[in-house]
Amino acid sequence: MTRRATLLALSALGASYRFFLKGQAVGPASLMDFEPLAKQVISPMAFEYIASGAADEITLRANREAWNKISLKPRVLVDVSRIDTKQTLLGQELAFPILLAPTATHKLVHPQGELATTRAASASSITFVVSTLSSVTIEEISKAANSTLWFQLYVQKDRSITRELMKRSEVAGCRAFCITVDTPVRGVRDHDVRAGYHLPPGVQFANIETRPGELGPQVLNASLTWSDIDWVRSQTRLPVLLKGILSAEDASTAAKEGFAGVIVSNHGARNLDTTPATVEALPLVVDKVNGQIPVLVDGGIRRGTDVLKAIALGATAVLIGRPYLYGLGYRGEEGVSQVVRMLRTEFQAAMALTGQTSIAGINRSILWS
Ligand SMILES: Cc1cc2nc3c(=O)[nH]c(=O)nc-3n(C[C@H](O)[C@H](O)[C@H](O)COP(=O)(O)O)c2cc1C
Repeated sequence: MTRRATLLALSALGASYRFFLKGQAVGPASLMDFEPLAKQVISPMAFEYIASGAADEITLRANREAWNKISLKPRVLVDVSRIDTKQTLLGQELAFPILLAPTATHKLVHPQGELATTRAASASSITFVVSTLSSVTIEEISKAANSTLWFQLYVQKDRSITRELMKRSEVAGCRAFCITVDTPVRGVRDHDVRAGYHLPPGVQFANIETRPGELGPQVLNASLTWSDIDWVRSQTRLPVLLKGILSAEDASTAAKEGFAGVIVSNHGARNLDTTPATVEALPLVVDKVNGQIPVLVDGGIRRGTDVLKAIALGATAVLIGRPYLYGLGYRGEEGVSQVVRMLRTEFQAAMALTGQTSIAGINRSILWS
């Protein structure tokens, strides 16, 4: 029996996640624990593809370290017996300010792919941002969904393909578009080269047609400019956010141009190495945008305290990428649910320990300096 088969059999039996593998307790206690657990069951190539960052991974490390460097100020003797994590984003009520970031081809790590992710998102009442490069079609995903879906758009050179993708996502019930603007070309990915990254048989980009085995350049659009995305926005009544903004100037342009929001992101440090960590950019973007549009952030968020720090610095919500992919690889739907549950629980604890009972009350005063 393979390790995956053993794990799947245990989960089918409803076994507690605290079981023993090779004589060692391996139950995950934090989001970080899912990485080594997933590594045991997914292919080495898929693991390298997910875990790695661009080039020397300077930004990959920075994304984590920068959250750690921010200190929190605990407050005592506040009644925190009731914590309200509800947040409003673009007219939608979120039970807690966390979303699942768009990530490509979930079938690389689990045979049910995005269907398992969607079921977990629904069970956890969390918004799932479906990637253009999902390995299950947006129509099938929407059938499995009971919670909000957004669609991440890689704007295609051929406008009719983009229009069609948008129309399909709208019909499928997606409630917003995130245009990814930080990927005109693929980043330098040494790990993918070394691991011989490719789409294995049975895994494909389900929403768009590509030749078998084809990957990056033909789905990316190196000539994309502000006027193109203006055209994209004119094709829909849904809110359109820009994902992959790091500079305050670009955020300011997005607000002036009337986009619905920005996601401060460096694509999980997978594109341009040696950019700052996203949390370094976040306060600059927030100050520049000055409340005109919501600002979201992703990159290296692994702890409830990271979520709290993001909100304190002015983010409306955060997104997580790798941790839920590891959860998916490790235990499918239940693994993703565990990841979300843990982060939510940690966030509530972080709120309580800093004396915060609602999202609206969280501001920079809870940071040490
Ligand atoms: C394996 C993988 C695939 C990704 N695919 C996409 C994608 O298709 N579209 C996109 O906009 N971002 C994609 N991203 C970036 C994520 O949306 C997100 O910005 C990033 O993962 C957040 O950082 P974190 O993984 O440290 O939480 C991907 C990230 C990973 C790790």
